[in-house]
Amino acid sequence: MNKKIVTIDGPAGAGKTSVSYALSKRLGWIYVDTGALYRGVAFEIKRAGINWQKENELRALLDDMELDFMMEKGCPVLISSGEDISGKIRTADIAMLASSVSAMPVVREALLSIQRSLALKNNAVFEGRDMGTIVFPGADFKFFLFADLKIRALRRYREMKNENHDLEKVEHDMEKRDKNDSLRECAPLKPAIDAVMIDSTYMTLNEVVEKIFDIVNARL
Ligand code: DC
Repeated sequence: MNKKIVTIDGPAGAGKTSVSYALSKRLGWIYVDTGALYRGVAFEIKRAGINWQKENELRALLDDMELDFMMEKGCPVLISSGEDISGKIRTADIAMLASSVSAMPVVREALLSIQRSLALKNNAVFEGRDMGTIVFPGADFKFFLFADLKIRALRRYREMKNENHDLEKVEHDMEKRDKNDSLRECAPLKPAIDAVMIDSTYMTLNEVVEKIFDIVNARL
């Protein structure tokens, strides 16, 4: 029997990660954070010191790369060729580089089969930017989660409270990343035409999870 897929797309800071993970627990399905894969590519580019704008250098790096995503004891784990790099991909620098390199078709192509293969064996909740449009156009349930920029920036700033960031910079970076992600030619951030739109600006995490759960559960 075909496995079921929920896709949750949207801009940075809209709450996709918390919502998708909580929803996956509620449904008993697996959760896949596809942003982690793009961050993994960015991390390996930085570590190798290649010029990612040169397609031959980028392609050679991608050919050698083996990325895998899983959850372990409730924590997201990203493995790159056997090494756990989860603790190294959650920085502002890596987020920005991930956004830049994710515009390269060769990168998106390399990650497409990894993402689709993760959906073969389990019912899953996938979060990202192009889950409902490109990676899983036939997904059973599609959602697009968004919120006002100021609220998204504040949420992200609070998550980063142990690091040395100021709110204005967080907001500025977020706006820049949204623009990069939405304006790129290849698989831009946008809602699928059949996605349910959810504005989380004035909603709590639980309210969003319950809303999505009710829609999914009613049609299972
Ligand atoms: O979800 P995130 O913030 O961890 O994602 C980091 C970057 O990766 C994001 O700015 C754009 C890119 N990305 C993408 O292009 N497509 C996806 N499905 C997920 C992330």
